[in-house]
Amino acid sequence: ESQGVMTVTITFDETKKYFHLQNESVSYVIALEEEKYVSHQYWGKRLNSFSQVADYPRQDNAFAPNPFEVPGRVFSLATLPQEFPGNGSGDFRESAFECLYPDQTTVSLLTYKSHEIVTGKQPLQGLPHTYETKEEPAETLLLTMEDTVTKVEVVLSYTLFRDYPVLTRSASFRNNGAEDIHLNKALSMSIDFPDADFDMIQLPGAWGRERQIVRTPLVRGIHTLDSKRGTTSHAYQPFVALADKTATEDQGAVYGFHFVYSGEFRANVEVDTYAQTRVQMGINPTHFQWHLPVGEAFQTPEVVLVYSENGLNGLSQTLHPFYQKHLIRGQHQLAERPVLINNWEGTYFDFTAEKIEAMADEASTLGIELFVLDDGWFGKRDDDYSSLGDWHVHTAKLPSGLKQLAENIKAKGMLFGLWFEPEMISEDSELFRAHPDWCIHTLGREKSLSRSQYVIDFSRKEVRDNILAQMMAILDDVPVDYIKWDYNRNMTEIGTAAPGALPGEVLHKYMLGLYEVMEALVAKYPQILFESCSGGGGRFDPGILYYMPQTWTSDNTDAVARLEIQYGTSLVMPISSMGSHVSAIPNHQTHRKASMKMRGDVAMAGNLGYELDVTTLSEAEKQEMKEQISFYKEHRKLVQYGVFHRILSPFETQNEAAWIFVSPEQDEALYFYYRVLDRANLKKKKVLFKGLDSAKYYTVSGYEGVIGGDELMNRGLYLKDALQGDFQSVCLVLKEAQSV
Ligand code: DGJ
Repeated sequence: ESQGVMTVTITFDETKKYFHLQNESVSYVIALEEEKYVSHQYWGKRLNSFSQVADYPRQDNAFAPNPFEVPGRVFSLATLPQEFPGNGSGDFRESAFECLYPDQTTVSLLTYKSHEIVTGKQPLQGLPHTYETKEEPAETLLLTMEDTVTKVEVVLSYTLFRDYPVLTRSASFRNNGAEDIHLNKALSMSIDFPDADFDMIQLPGAWGRERQIVRTPLVRGIHTLDSKRGTTSHAYQPFVALADKTATEDQGAVYGFHFVYSGEFRANVEVDTYAQTRVQMGINPTHFQWHLPVGEAFQTPEVVLVYSENGLNGLSQTLHPFYQKHLIRGQHQLAERPVLINNWEGTYFDFTAEKIEAMADEASTLGIELFVLDDGWFGKRDDDYSSLGDWHVHTAKLPSGLKQLAENIKAKGMLFGLWFEPEMISEDSELFRAHPDWCIHTLGREKSLSRSQYVIDFSRKEVRDNILAQMMAILDDVPVDYIKWDYNRNMTEIGTAAPGALPGEVLHKYMLGLYEVMEALVAKYPQILFESCSGGGGRFDPGILYYMPQTWTSDNTDAVARLEIQYGTSLVMPISSMGSHVSAIPNHQTHRKASMKMRGDVAMAGNLGYELDVTTLSEAEKQEMKEQISFYKEHRKLVQYGVFHRILSPFETQNEAAWIFVSPEQDEALYFYYRVLDRANLKKKKVLFKGLDSAKYYTVSGYEGVIGGDELMNRGLYLKDALQGDFQSVCLVLKEAQSV
């Protein structure tokens, strides 16, 4: 393959004072203006060389201050494109950080101090991070900047991956001064584009309608996407992209930013008075303040920066394999994911061991591979008012115990999965009665309840140890193959009862504690497949993917709603990370009655599962399910790890969606078309394909003969089925064939 010739290089030109980070597809150029101001020069399609160094326009702009006595007043930080702008020292845009010094001042200015170019990528201790591999290496630039007055040092880390148009950035702050300071703000990265001729793309949402694609022209102002909810949340994905105005799904330049963190974040896009654009990302400063003693360092989480010259599909087709190969880890990283059944929508809290076993019996005959026992198996949990924190079996409900139940299910030839919500504590629990101060709260204030529960205080080691020990006691006893890790509220009154703790540190310490617990579990139980969840997709972020290779995409299981949710999610998340289930009708969230065929065709475009009471289905429904499952098993590798192309956007058409999964060799593909509502007097639909090899020929299921890839992609074909009625879908299998 062409891999042999792939290269990644980072060079520093000593005379012209610029860095050029370069692989086969992208270049990123940083220059030292006036020998010391770290300035952004270029990011985009690869340049063979860079010649226009230090050409930042030298001109005198009104009210643009000069950092030193410049002849002609022609140099100003107020206009200079920068890499990590300081605070209150001549740049009027948003700063990348804010230090609070002992004299209560916050003015800072960083200039170049030194740099190092190293092969590979260092792990970020205690934080989720992307990693290089032997097969797909990376290079790193460590650029040290310093405030010469206060001796605060910031090391900017840039890693360029050889095989992807992907760069990661983070920052590490060190206090080399004589007195302790506080960080009021410590973002991970900042970048300045010299213009503002972009559309802004984001993925806002809510519970039940996560990650909706919103694209708007970029206008003057500071546009903030953030979380002040303690966690990533449903409200925004920690992602933003700038796209050329003409960029489409398949063409044009797109610059994407994605934060590898699961706590409160801020993404800022600022268009300044000169129509330049600053993009920043990092921990949300709102509830953040970090004490930085003399000699100590603070490491920020990292941001993934991706450049696509092939539109939004290009962005996704970079992020999907990049996350699969350089973020997700462990035994299940690239493994085919099992078809599961989850009892939640089938029974909610109202189940017995007999009921669960009856469901498992039926499910196993249908070909389902994993049974997931959801909420309600522990403490005395018969509703959502109690028992979180008491991780021992609910003996009244499961008198023979969990181990027996798991063994019975495994005896049917299925894997066994279990639900936990380790970060929560119910007021009505043994744990809360014993430790009423073990939750996130602010002393002296009422605690807001949400779903009658509090967030347990993972910033404290004794709390983490208690929960870990409880979980390990179960996992060492019961043969668990899969864990669904849920998280069902946002944080309020953020604080801790731990003595001497700084309130502004609680949240980040919580995140570090959470990651520590997750790391301990994935390390001790490498065979367990973890699926994260937060009321569906409330914490579906790259940080969690480092520990848990899949996520429950949304609590909304309605096939029509799922078209938008899965379409939007696919912009940034690999298909192998998206849990998607067929559920009962009328749907429990939208009360819609979509056909079994459409529910199956939508759920199959992710990690297929079922979430209904299979014991109540008709023979015909069961037969249809059985066929869906065996079809999915035949094609799931292609779905989970193939190249995914979005074709028709439900956000644009309002009534249709289409996508295709193509094998890397382009010898196989699976195409899906969905139509929500019927209309009178329609003609048959002609559809276009993407991602095929235009020089190859294909058979298409249900059609005679062979058709050229070029013809399928340019001329397309008419769907055979008449598609009568609402909630219709079509699935076509394409296979490479000899030409005739
Ligand atoms: C929210 C999850 O998203 C659901 O799938 C289910 O596990 C419930 N929590 C259980 O309480």
